[in-house]
Amino acid sequence: MRRVTLPEIGTFEAWRDQARALLAAGIRPEDLLWQRGEGDADLFAAPLPPLTGGDITVPRGFVDLARQVVWHSDPERFARLYALLWALKSDRKLLEDRGDARVARLNRLAKEVGRDRHKMTAFVRFREIGDPGANRRRFAAWFEPSHYILEPTAPFFVKRFGDMDWSIFTPDLSAHFLGGDLSLAPPAPRPDLPDDAAEDLWRTYFRNIFNPARVKLKAMQAEMPKKYWRNMPETALIPEMVASAHARAREMAEAAPSLAPKRAEAITERLRSDQAMARPDDTGQSLKTQLAACRRCPLWENASQAVPGEGPADAALMIVGEQPGDHEDLTGRPFVGPAGQLFDRVAERAGLTRSSAYVTNAVKHFKFQPRGKRRIHQAPNRGEVSHCRWWLDMERETVRPKLILAMGATALESLTGNRRDLLKRRGGIETLADGTPIFVTVHPSYLLRLPDAERTMAEAQFESDLREAMAYLDSL
Ligand code: URA
Repeated sequence: MRRVTLPEIGTFEAWRDQARALLAAGIRPEDLLWQRGEGDADLFAAPLPPLTGGDITVPRGFVDLARQVVWHSDPERFARLYALLWALKSDRKLLEDRGDARVARLNRLAKEVGRDRHKMTAFVRFREIGDPGANRRRFAAWFEPSHYILEPTAPFFVKRFGDMDWSIFTPDLSAHFLGGDLSLAPPAPRPDLPDDAAEDLWRTYFRNIFNPARVKLKAMQAEMPKKYWRNMPETALIPEMVASAHARAREMAEAAPSLAPKRAEAITERLRSDQAMARPDDTGQSLKTQLAACRRCPLWENASQAVPGEGPADAALMIVGEQPGDHEDLTGRPFVGPAGQLFDRVAERAGLTRSSAYVTNAVKHFKFQPRGKRRIHQAPNRGEVSHCRWWLDMERETVRPKLILAMGATALESLTGNRRDLLKRRGGIETLADGTPIFVTVHPSYLLRLPDAERTMAEAQFESDLREAMAYLDSL
């Protein structure tokens, strides 16, 4: 095993040169350990002296991909890139293969870096630190990105703020633009930056663009995650503005002119779709009422009631299980029995707020076999899953989630038409015909059936699936 150490500044060029030379020398991906900086060197891997040379050509798309992925915080990013480069030797078209898990993962990493860079360009807030009367004004900012993006993003600030001197400090590196020259340097401790006049401007601007009638905390936080708030002057206002949003929205409504503005139709349409779950259809019935009368398959005969999904009609995440169990059948609510309680416990640990997700099942009636006083769960068959897809499709059309969490083989079958290889597909993202991504995981009742000795480990794995799904949702 050989260790390749890349510098913290100029990482992309160094990775590219090393990868070229290693590939030309025929050194296999599995024989290499990559790292950025001297940090946590692996003592068992001998350092590899820098190699030079290696004249190879690679598809343009690969270079663009690598140029983005090298800044990701995934410790395996260099190895993943090199493994793909290696595979490209024998399959030049591999990059176009959307089904290839290696390519899909690298594309995902590139997208996450892209989003992080975008957030940096939007959320860096400079404070003036020099003499305001000086020829060139001097500013500084502190920023905490999720990935190592200062180097590739600094040129954006050069273009945007080329007429002033500035420094951006991050926990990883710092960038300085002084007298027209950009340089990168090792990290410096977080500077104590003063409030300046620009902060008041930001606050005024933010207060003016804030529309209390349209406050959507979830959407706000998706765009501007909380971790950026403490470096942004305007965010100090958020708690107070959100707390008073209702009252301000009411005042606005009372003060509004009674004639509908031109845009009224579009606004009404949006409100209408927000309330689609409760809205009657052409026949005057809500989705819930229609479902209660469902006779598409015989399961309704023995069940107490149909169990519809529940959750916000504009939820970003939809969670799909199999079918209601005994408790769900009696209460009319999904995931309230033992499997639901286990799910809630693990979800809370994973930071997934169930109330912000839309939770439903592939099949809406409880299928069971009576045994004495007990009702024993029976898995729904293919026909029942297929008949019930009608309702799941209606829920999907109404909610239009950004991501669906498919729990177990029945959910997977209903969503993709194929229930095979659940454990192999677990942890992966699949894309439905309408473009909605689904994250595949096991069903919580599978965990309930495991012996105690295996259960802890399996729960931890389930928790990590939920975390991964949330991180993916955040990156969308
Ligand atoms: N199992 C499911 O799949 N759904 C429920 O609602 C309860 C248990």
